[in-house]
Amino acid sequence: MNIACIGAGSVGGPTMAMIALKCPDFQVHVVDLDSARIAAWVDGRLPIFEPGLEEMVREARGRNLTFSTDVAGGIKQADIIFVAVNTPTKSYGVGAGRAADLRFIESAARMIAEHADSNKIIVEKSTIPGKTADTISTILAANTKGLRFQVLSNPEFLAEGTAVNDLMNPDRVLIGGERTPEGEKAVETLVSIYARWVPRERIITTDLWSSELSKLVANAFLAQRISSINSISALCEATAADVDEVADAIGKDSRIGPKFLKASVGCGGSCFQKDILNLTYLCEGFGLPEVAAYWTQVVTMNDWQKHRFTSHIIEQLFNTVSGKKIAVLGFAFKKDTNDTRESAAINVCQDLLAEHAQVCVYDPKVSAEAIGFETLGPGVDNPRLTIAKDAYEACRGAHAIAIVTEWDEFKTLDYARIFAEMPKPAFLFDGRNIVDLAAVRKIGFQASGIGKPPESTLAQEKPLLCFDGKR
Ligand code: UDX
Repeated sequence: MNIACIGAGSVGGPTMAMIALKCPDFQVHVVDLDSARIAAWVDGRLPIFEPGLEEMVREARGRNLTFSTDVAGGIKQADIIFVAVNTPTKSYGVGAGRAADLRFIESAARMIAEHADSNKIIVEKSTIPGKTADTISTILAANTKGLRFQVLSNPEFLAEGTAVNDLMNPDRVLIGGERTPEGEKAVETLVSIYARWVPRERIITTDLWSSELSKLVANAFLAQRISSINSISALCEATAADVDEVADAIGKDSRIGPKFLKASVGCGGSCFQKDILNLTYLCEGFGLPEVAAYWTQVVTMNDWQKHRFTSHIIEQLFNTVSGKKIAVLGFAFKKDTNDTRESAAINVCQDLLAEHAQVCVYDPKVSAEAIGFETLGPGVDNPRLTIAKDAYEACRGAHAIAIVTEWDEFKTLDYARIFAEMPKPAFLFDGRNIVDLAAVRKIGFQASGIGKPPESTLAQEKPLLCFDGKR
């Protein structure tokens, strides 16, 4: 079996490495037009940071896993072609800011049509707005040269930072295909690949459209949980309840479950916002504005949460951060990744810079270039944005610390040492609830967490309310 994957990004690269590892008798070729990205996969400094990935790639690369810019060659040799190209949110024309930009999918389909010289199975791996399989099929059908193509949907549910484990032990593998004999046969071929390491009962097969839609809905539900708990975090702060206690109590209900209930400064990443915007765009297209409005609120709440965090910082710092140094700890959208797409840190830094703060960022994995690019835009410089080489340097002389990414190293910093090097009062805003607030308050910090009771309400006796609502 010869497998090609068009797109060497955070889905294509790790997924193909896993297939190559588990199917040593297959040849797996990852192709991408971006020569810098391919060079990085080839020479060992992988373009994405993912725990365990380097070891996996090292084992298969050169044996049955190759990376190259020869897209035409990859297509020609392959029996199965995975399409794992970018589907960013459209930034122009109809649907700008919401619809998925499908030009990379279309150009992949056209390249397959142009270069294929035998029958192929095409597998959609990219997250797509639905009915995209139809688009690929139509383009291929119009250019068949007598060849037969079967298009399958096989959405990827891996999360960044845990990609290797998610690929090794997926909750489920979803494969959608046409309900025709040829379609069923193609589905079975793909099932047999995953069945090399995934228990058969975890491999679900369905029709194309249900498969495509399931991916958008899974991400929408996950993001909805975060926005739900984040909305409650605001209520907790107002009423001196503790959001982690609330999350723990509700999560013990097996119908709700404990995962994805961690209140935060707001969720980021390349998928959640994009997929919800996509879903709402679809709903509107199908004449369902109420459904679209329902899901739009998930994104609205997430945006509000990011800005609420910075507003709180400014308010606490006596309503002005102008000229004050603020240390921003973490820039990646979550720990264990160098990905910054839609990271809450971007909004936090932008809001603080707009208020003329001196923003000093430290992230263990994100480069200074990426921080500057995301915050200021390409080629723009702002002397009020600086990058530190470690957390201590970032915090030295800062009026406040804002923890934006939950990197483990921020849990064990020497906060007493940091406190000693800050002007007083020294503030700490924990956007991830990872530090022990009681301990840092004992050191002397004015510290607050997301959805945590403010210090003042802890010191005072809580007012007792009679059941008629009066004190
Ligand atoms: C997500 C989905 O989890 C994955 O199944 C899909 O394939 C791609 O999108 P990813 O974007 O890599 O994966 O990250 P995820 O772990 O889901 O986190 C997304 C964001 O939500 C991060 O910013 C994270 O910090 C935040 N988050 C997550 C919370 O704020 N609270 C939580 O309880 C969980």
